[in-house]
Amino acid sequence: MTKATRGSLLSIEPLGAAEILGLLSIARRMNPLKARPLLRGRRVLLLFYEPSTRTRSSFEIAAQSLGAMTTLVLSSGSSIEKGESLLDTGYTLRAVGADVLVIRHPHAGAPLLMAKHLDIPVINAGDGMHEHPSQALLDAYTILQHKKTLKGLQVAIVGDIYHSRVARSAIHLLSKFGARITLCGPPELVPELAANLASGLQITRTAEEAVHGADVVTVLRVQKERLAGMKISLQDYIARYQITIARLKLAKRDAILMHPGPIIRGLELTSEVADCPQSAIVEEVRNGVPVRMAILAKALGKAG
Ligand code: NCD
Repeated sequence: MTKATRGSLLSIEPLGAAEILGLLSIARRMNPLKARPLLRGRRVLLLFYEPSTRTRSSFEIAAQSLGAMTTLVLSSGSSIEKGESLLDTGYTLRAVGADVLVIRHPHAGAPLLMAKHLDIPVINAGDGMHEHPSQALLDAYTILQHKKTLKGLQVAIVGDIYHSRVARSAIHLLSKFGARITLCGPPELVPELAANLASGLQITRTAEEAVHGADVVTVLRVQKERLAGMKISLQDYIARYQITIARLKLAKRDAILMHPGPIIRGLELTSEVADCPQSAIVEEVRNGVPVRMAILAKALGKAG
């Protein structure tokens, strides 16, 4: 980490296991309903160039629970629409008093660019097809509420992995702790990249094989328009890859079902699966708050 990016959370890839476990243990001490005002008087600027429900609301609630002030800037309705550059927007938000910047952007590397030019910590809330580090942390936190350790866990990730920053961050995190990961989906959405194979990831084209014996089944959003553009019929995707109760039964009896959201019921998973007792989807959303409290407190040097 350079001096300029100190305190920032830009990606999971460079983090060590101890740093990740440290953040998770700070998160376990955070209670959004009875939080100490560790960030009183601090200003958290949320800059979102892409739609978001969970990430945006939980960062905002996390910051406010710690006593910080928050301001949300969306690309629509701001000077970004008038053509202002990313860095000029960053300098503007710093000038109005931002102490930390949370940014979601369609281009990979946008948070890094901000962190290099601003003298405040920058938190990546999802950048293009690159990473979504806070999601990987809240997912690890959720898994560890159900499983003793990540080591040796069998994790199946099914859906549009190629375009998914959630998958990339999850793979980086889980691999550091010795989880065994199987990726599943059609070749257009789960290509056999040399990098995947080199890092020991398994790839399978059948949902049954991916889910068989899994401890964790993570389902990712699939976009209808993307399937259409790749000439994959909806019916074919559903027939081969949709996670149904019958397929979920192939996983371990105590397996958990995860999805970062937004979920499209009837496409990548059935409604019954989304709502079944094994589903941890709502827990993931809830855990987003303490995990993001930990991230913000650490960024501002207030995590103790
Ligand atoms: C994801 C994202 O935006 O990367 N959602 C999220 O933050 N929970 C996943 C997606 O949009 O499919």
